Amino acid sequence: MNFLERLFLPPQASTHAKVVDDVFIFVTWVNIIFFVIVAAAAIFFVIKYKRRGPNDRTPHVTHNLTLELVWSIIPLFIVMIIFFWGFQTYMVARIAPNDSFEVQATAKKWLWAFEYPDGTRSINELHVPFGRPVRVVLSSEDVLHAFFLKDFRVKSDVLPNRYTEVWFEATKPGEYVLQCAEYCGKDHSRMLGKVFVDNKADYDRFIAEGPADWKTMPPAELGKMTYEQAGCVSCHSLDGSKGQGPSWKGIYGSTHQFVDGTSQVVDENYIRQSIENPQGKIVKGYEGIMPTYQGLLREKQINGVIAYIKSLK
Ligand code: CUA
Repeated sequence: MNFLERLFLPPQASTHAKVVDDVFIFVTWVNIIFFVIVAAAAIFFVIKYKRRGPNDRTPHVTHNLTLELVWSIIPLFIVMIIFFWGFQTYMVARIAPNDSFEVQATAKKWLWAFEYPDGTRSINELHVPFGRPVRVVLSSEDVLHAFFLKDFRVKSDVLPNRYTEVWFEATKPGEYVLQCAEYCGKDHSRMLGKVFVDNKADYDRFIAEGPADWKTMPPAELGKMTYEQAGCVSCHSLDGSKGQGPSWKGIYGSTHQFVDGTSQVVDENYIRQSIENPQGKIVKGYEGIMPTYQGLLREKQINGVIAYIKSLK
């Protein structure tokens, strides 16, 4: 990487990051060079042709053919280079190889849900095997979002009722940041995820058991992590204040009144039902806006959330 890249661009972590950067850096240098030429000429002419006395008159100049050809043809070549080079790079960056590993990603306010070829699901963390191109098919359940992996130079709008796609192949295993790059409402800035490019053993373990650290984590702590990562935090406060959903503080063992007039004590089964079928029972004073988490959370996470709610006295 040259100094411009190091200064302004994140690390190049995908196979096509370098070609994308090369075009970008080229265009940036063209801009810098022409800015300097134009600005220097402007300053020079302002000084050289300053009106110095009341009888100063601008000479009558019609045109200069050589000069006009030079300043037309040189830029023409430069924009043609940018066009062909950019188009070629665009094709490389957009068209996934046929043997790609395919993942489905669904955006909703305000989380990323992923579905793997074997039916496994995860929230806000995408695990992919290292050494294979990955094709991510994107869709949204509500508004416009954007799937942005800066280290991979990958970005695409995510739309409701239409599929878009991106692909990448990481150059080394590791952890990368996924951002939503389209303003999508209150918690847009918290719509973050992680992409783990795993070695085969790590990937297989993830599919089988979920992330490695879950095994050693106390349930309430896993619940707290799920609360933050799965997006519960957007609507359920921990301090008793009213959000778009009821606060979790002290609700365990209390009685919830529902809009249909019935009521129920908040226990393990009620919490599980509310996670899996949130439209089933709507607490009085709230709207039924929560999406279902059925199949999105592993058993351990649901147990963790229950343990966490119990711990919030
Ligand atoms: Cu989703 Cu911004």
